[in-house]
Amino acid sequence: MPYEKKRKQIITEKRIHATMKKIMIIDGSPRKNMNTAAMVAAFVEGVREGGGEAKVVRLYDLDYKGCRSCMACQLKGPRANSCRFPDGLTETLKECTEADGLVIASPIYYGEVTAMTRAFWERLTYPWLNYSTAIFKAPMSIPVTFIYTMNGMPSNGEKVRRSSMRSVETMTSVALGHKVEVLMANNTTQVNDYSRYEFPESIIESKKQWRDAHWEEDLAKAREAGKQMVTVGQ
Ligand SMILES: Cc1cc2nc3c(=O)[nH]c(=O)nc-3n(C[C@H](O)[C@H](O)[C@H](O)COP(=O)(O)O)c2cc1C
Repeated sequence: MPYEKKRKQIITEKRIHATMKKIMIIDGSPRKNMNTAAMVAAFVEGVREGGGEAKVVRLYDLDYKGCRSCMACQLKGPRANSCRFPDGLTETLKECTEADGLVIASPIYYGEVTAMTRAFWERLTYPWLNYSTAIFKAPMSIPVTFIYTMNGMPSNGEKVRRSSMRSVETMTSVALGHKVEVLMANNTTQVNDYSRYEFPESIIESKKQWRDAHWEEDLAKAREAGKQMVTVGQ
């Protein structure tokens, strides 16, 4: 390619890259190839289709714990934008504050997100709490989507939201200054080969029927949500 043409191409690519929206996707499932991972992959596809960039972080690959109440984020002086405790989550938390959109995806374990997801959320949000002003506000204003996958039916999913997740969703939404979006995949396939596990035949059959009727639609919704996050900002 002639030098001048190549130069123009590099400049154009750089410009596109500079304006490209970056979406941080936090995957709180321990399993890398099952339901939550598939919903996350579909969301990523949508982000890319919309012209954005997606970074997926699998929390179970990182070495960290929940908030230790070290209170470093509440020290006098310039406010901390993200958690000051140095460990395997530090870089991810920083990247979240620099992102143009945030997705928190998790299986539901005993009516809540996984312990790793909860620990991540504590670390993400506690520096946003300002005791002297009583204001809970993130340094960035970006759209946020929660993705839950679960055995339960949609009505059970709503129950989970009412009993445990709604306050987390609302606090995140208020702090980020955006309405929260929630996607759910219900009655998920829990294992690939049911013949090896102690599941009653009736459950296996009803799960298969549910999956045939809903799974592709769940993935399509995740894909569309990814596209929307970069194109319209939600
Ligand atoms: C420890 C554990 C607890 C679970 N608790 C619930 C629950 O309370 N409600 C529910 O609907 N599903 C529950 N499930 C099922 C998972 O939420 C469901 O299979 C999910 O889609 C798994 O996500 P994954 O495929 O990404 O691992 C539980 C699974 C495990 C392993």
